[in-house]
This record gives sequence, C-alpha cells and structure tokens, in this order.
Amino acid sequence: MVGIKAPGPRGDTLLGSTLDFKDSPLEFCTYVSRAYGDVARFRVGPTDWYLLTHPDHVWDVMTTQADVFLKPRIAHRLWREFLGHGLLTSEGTEWRRQNTMMKPTMHRTNLDGYADVMVAYTHRMVDAWSDGERRNIHRDMTGLTLQIVAKTLFDADVAGDAKTVGDAMEVLQQVMVEHIHLPIPLPSWWPSEGNRKKLEAVHTIRSIVGRLIEERRGNTEGRTDLLSMLMDARDMDGGAMSDQEVYDQAVTLFFAGHETTANGLTWAWYALARHPEVLAKLQAELDAVVGDRPLRMSDLKDLPYLDMVVHECLRYLPPVWVYIKEPTQDAVVGGYRVPKGVPVLISPWVTHHDPRFWPEPDRFLPERFTREGRMAQLRGAWIPFSGGARVCFGKSFALTELRLIIGSMCQRLDPTVPADHWPTKVAELSMHPRGGMPFDVVFRKPSPQTAVAK
Ligand code: HEM
Repeated sequence: MVGIKAPGPRGDTLLGSTLDFKDSPLEFCTYVSRAYGDVARFRVGPTDWYLLTHPDHVWDVMTTQADVFLKPRIAHRLWREFLGHGLLTSEGTEWRRQNTMMKPTMHRTNLDGYADVMVAYTHRMVDAWSDGERRNIHRDMTGLTLQIVAKTLFDADVAGDAKTVGDAMEVLQQVMVEHIHLPIPLPSWWPSEGNRKKLEAVHTIRSIVGRLIEERRGNTEGRTDLLSMLMDARDMDGGAMSDQEVYDQAVTLFFAGHETTANGLTWAWYALARHPEVLAKLQAELDAVVGDRPLRMSDLKDLPYLDMVVHECLRYLPPVWVYIKEPTQDAVVGGYRVPKGVPVLISPWVTHHDPRFWPEPDRFLPERFTREGRMAQLRGAWIPFSGGARVCFGKSFALTELRLIIGSMCQRLDPTVPADHWPTKVAELSMHPRGGMPFDVVFRKPSPQTAVAK
C-alpha cells in the first residue's frame, strides 16, 4: 500500500483517545481535524480510527471509491437485529435491487401527495396550541414527523401509537449507542438490562408495523402510500418483494424517516429564534407569496429564501453529525494510507465548521446559499445527507418536509426559545439537545383558541 501514515494524537497508553471521543465527540473531532489535518488518525480502544475533513476527500470516498468504502460491519451487526435486510443495512447487488425498486416511492409526483399531509398535520398541531404556553419543541417535532411518516408510509393515523413507537425508537437509539461504546459487545441473548429493553422495543415496533402491513394486504389498488407502492413494486425480472423484505423496508423507513428530521427542525427553531433578522426576512417572503392560506408544494419554487434558510440550518447544526465508512481493502485518500477494515469518520459537523470552506462558520447566514454561493461551494462541503450512490434515500422527502413545516409554522408563529436557554448538544446517532428544547408559543395573529374564547 502506498501513501503516508496519517498523523494524530497519541492519547493514553492504554485507552488511546477513547474517553475524549466518548465524552465530547464534537469538540474532540474538531480538535483532531484542526490540529492534525485533513486526514487524521486516533485510537479508540485497540483500533485506529480515521477522520476525513476535506470536501475533496469526502467526495472521493463517497463517489470514486464508493465500492471500497462501505457501511461498517458494526453498523450492519447492530442494525440488522431489528432493521433486518433493509436499504440501510444492505450492500452490493441486494442494495441495488432494493434501491431500484424503492426509488419510485420518492418521485416528485408522490412527494406532491405527501406535501398535503405535511402541511395539514403541521396546522393540526399548531391549532391545538395556546398563545403564551411553553412547549418542548423537540418532543412536538418528534411526534409530528412520526405522524407524517406513518401517514405517508402506511396511510395510517398513528396519533394513538405515536408515543409508544417514539419511546421504543428512543430506547433502540440509546441501546445502540451504548453498544457502540462497549469494547466487546454483549451477545443479544445475554440477559442484560440493555438487551431486555432492546428486545421489548423491537417487539413493540414489529407488532405495530406488522399490524399496519396486515391492514393493507390485498388493499393496495389505487393507493399512493409508500407501503402499497412497496407491495406493488417489481424488480427488473418482474419479481415482487417478499413479505419479509416489505417489512424490513417499512421498519427502516420508519426508523430513518423521522428522528433526524425532528432534530433538524428542533435546531432550526433554535437558529431562527436567535436570528430575528433572518426570521423577519423569511416571514416577509411567506407573507408576500403565500399570505394566510396553507402552503402548497407548488409554492416552494417561489420561496427561495425558505430554501436557503433550510440549507443553512442543515449546515449550521447538522442533525447527523457523523457517519462511518469502512474500506474493504487497503486504500489511499489524499495521499494517506487508510488500511482495510478501519472505521473512517466523515463529519458534517467538522467539515461544515471549517473556515476554509465556510467563512465565519459560526455565523448563521442563509445568504451562503444564493445561486452564486452554491456554485462557489466545493462538492463534498455540504454533506448533511451524505452523497454519492448511498446518499440519504429520503433527502427530497426531508427537504420538502423541512420547508413545508418551517414555512407553515413561521406563517403563524414567531418562534421563541427563552433567551437564557443554552442547549447542550448530545452527539449520539444523531445530534439532539439534551432534555429537549423549550419553546414559547407566540402567535403572529390570534390563535384559534384565543379567537374562540373571545
Ligand atoms: C433532515 C433529515 C435527514 C437527514 C439529515 C438524513 C441523513 C442521512 C444520512 C447522513 C444518511 C447516510 C448514513 C450513512 O451513510 O451511514 C442517510 C441514509 C438514509 N436515510 Fe436519511 N436523513 C434524513 C431524513 C430521512 C428521511 C425522511 C428518510 C425516509 C423517508 C430517510 C431515509 C434514509 C435511508 C433509507 C437511508 C439509507 C440509504 C442507503 O444506505 O442507501 N432519511 N440519511
């Protein structure tokens, strides 16, 4: 293997940098990147981990060398237990077949249908709020995105199940993070507290998704929900997905399709609450283009500033702060050796805050995303959804959802996070604020409740 050895911190003789990485991953990765350069190396337990920061290297790994840099084996092992062989956990021919069969579910015409659900559910949520009340907006956004994904995916109203599924998903996230931090993972049959909770959560999600699939069986004609489309999908040889495959894909989309968006929305409320000049400009655009009527998919093309705000939110506080690849053979990136089998981190958080690619990175500036601004950006510099063939499957869904929810809420509310609130970022599978995010309901015009009371 050619290439030079990547530099990095020595760390503790026994543990390497394990504790620094575990205790403050955002700060530690930023430090390693700034101090040791674009391809850096640090030790977690007995293993060398690599961190890539430069957009050129990120792009290289996601596109040119995509056949070598796959999802890590640890992710496959942890996720397969409950996601089975879905899009997130498959590789090679299996992934290509699934991706081809599933892509139509995200076509523009289907997104149009999903858009009405996104707007209607947002208004339904806001209608139930009262002026002046304090809410936990993280919890509200998690409930909202879960209900949206259930309605678009299964054509089901899960208002009753939302809390049960949400709690089970949270347990799974926590257990997975704990697993990643264990030097030797416990086998799943081991009677530990974590394994017991995990099995319970898997059982809960399986039974709810299983019930929704049963309800839909033999009743897919003319329906445009994702589940019906998965059941009707055919591969190149005319073959349909097996029951197990439909089930695995449904759980995968359920899992991948709401948490990250909810975290993205929560951070967006924080950013907008702290930048009244951006909010004012956004509301002026919404008032001029949409007025008081509900936002529609067809409005989005006339709302360029809304799109810029959403892009900047995902740069400034990316909900997926890191993802991991693993080379299946010895590789070279940017002239540095990357040995077979090592975890390679790509961190939107670190790359998005590198002043070489984003001047004044800690300022929240949607103007970075004007047409000219976008043209000047390096490929691989804005990576909240990853990129290349394994780009987020729900990228268009999520960008539509973020714009419609943020747009609809800003039409009606002035997002307000108490001035003395400083959120602590928890960087687990996705980045979220510890303990949620307080949010004061301030209607721009009288709320439905206030109007009724008068
Ligand atoms: C703001 C919201 C979202 C963000 C930031 C996000 C981010 C990401 C990222 C970074 C990946 C790559 C992970 C990796 O390589 O390890 C990914 C993959 C994926 N995402 Fe998303 N995602 C979002 C919303 C969604 C939604 C709404 C859906 C489904 C409706 C979804 C479904 C998926 C799936 C199925 C994959 C696996 C794709 C594959 O491996 O081929 N995501 N997402």
